[in-house]
Amino acid sequence: TQTDPFDFVIVGATGDLTMRKLLPAFYQRFRLGQAPEGTQIIGVARSKLSSEEYRERGAKALKEFVPSDSYDAAQAEAFMELVQYASLDAADKDADWSTLKSLLDGHEDRPRVFYIATAPNLYVSTAAAFADKELISPHTRIVLEKPIGVDLASAEEINTGVGKYFSEEQIFRIDHYLGKTTVQNVLALRFANPMLERSWNSGTILSVQITAAETVGVGARGPYYDTSGALRDMVQNHLLQVLSLVAMEPPASLTAADLRDEKLKVLRALKPMSPEVVAKDTVRAQYVAGEIGGEAVDGYLTDLGDDKSTTETFLAIRTEVRTPRWFGVPFYLRTGKRLAEKATEIVITFRPQPWPIFQDAPQPGRLVLRVQPHEGVSLTLSSKDPSKDEFRLREATLDVSYPEQFHTRYPDSYEELLMDAVQGDPVLFIRRDEVQASWRWVEPILAGWKEDARALETYKAGTWGPDSSKDLLARDGSKWLEDF
Ligand code: BG6
Repeated sequence: TQTDPFDFVIVGATGDLTMRKLLPAFYQRFRLGQAPEGTQIIGVARSKLSSEEYRERGAKALKEFVPSDSYDAAQAEAFMELVQYASLDAADKDADWSTLKSLLDGHEDRPRVFYIATAPNLYVSTAAAFADKELISPHTRIVLEKPIGVDLASAEEINTGVGKYFSEEQIFRIDHYLGKTTVQNVLALRFANPMLERSWNSGTILSVQITAAETVGVGARGPYYDTSGALRDMVQNHLLQVLSLVAMEPPASLTAADLRDEKLKVLRALKPMSPEVVAKDTVRAQYVAGEIGGEAVDGYLTDLGDDKSTTETFLAIRTEVRTPRWFGVPFYLRTGKRLAEKATEIVITFRPQPWPIFQDAPQPGRLVLRVQPHEGVSLTLSSKDPSKDEFRLREATLDVSYPEQFHTRYPDSYEELLMDAVQGDPVLFIRRDEVQASWRWVEPILAGWKEDARALETYKAGTWGPDSSKDLLARDGSKWLEDF
């Protein structure tokens, strides 16, 4: 836990991420005593606002986005005292930097974090401006939001450009999925329970599914999202990180170097994507008008205000991890906006028992890691059906719900990551070579789609995507979780 004051500068401080996630996350850590007196959270953005006006916006955001059971008006006000604002285009070294400089003056020995929540094409000029203004000390770190670039070349340009001013140890590439307790729990379940780890291979596991489904549409983020699509927005980073944790070999330790080495090996072992594989093993689609929770919602093109976009808002991929542990096991990834439910889940399906001593064929067992919401773990096994006299099988589920089991507040994913950046702990951040490896796998998908003769599919908002997503699994005799 952080006990000394620090300076945390958020560039892009009027944006959605700051208001929804970063300020609420800091507020929670403030309540835990981790942002001691003297700490400064400095918002930087181009809007001409005074610190007072910015604090008013921040206070409103806390009220809206902090869960009501941890919101306290007096504490929110006390927290807001730590918040300052500097109106500045931080990508422009010729702008007026005097406010920011004076706030940081004399604090060279404190932990200092620059959190860049702007468009990736501004990362390099922003880092260059910090250097020009002599704001980088050995205690300074820079946090870069995803996506790092739009392809391998632009990612490398950013990494090399920022790398001129910050060493790799000072660069914290954030992927907030690694801040989720339930994602970190993959490591605990696998490596603290030999019973699971010894079954964690192609001998016992039939397939792995990773789903990150959302009910929200693109909302006001259309202009960003349309240049990105589900592949760049969710798969290149979040889903591949989750896949790496599920598939990696045991690391020698939980240090950043060892953990990242093992994740990297998984990314490098993914089955390469050729145009033929892309056409066969990917399904991409865009939502059209439908219904979510009983309410009519518009289609993507209407949300975006552009009737020509061919950006995918849904994506399903079948892939494989070509290591001895996983040879032949399909890994299915799926993500989308405006789907039937908000649910991020990892589903491990076990091979069924082929020995025919039962009247009913045993169903494949399932371990479901519910990342969010309804955080928990469930294990479904074949059992004797107690309602029948004759010996029949029926599925039964052991279910652990996090809130019921641990009776604790469930922290938002940004909370731990922000404090890790302050403390300089990189273990939950992404190393440069991981970014490279994931773009290397993703790029041929983008290229394959350009040559793909299949038209972009559509799906009705409020469904689980197009039927071809089901077909992708049916080919292997599998189903998505909600169809079991
Ligand atoms: C972000 C994406 O990284 O993750 C968003 O840019 C997406 O499009 C979000 O909605 C999902 O995060 P979470 O934590 O709600 O699953």
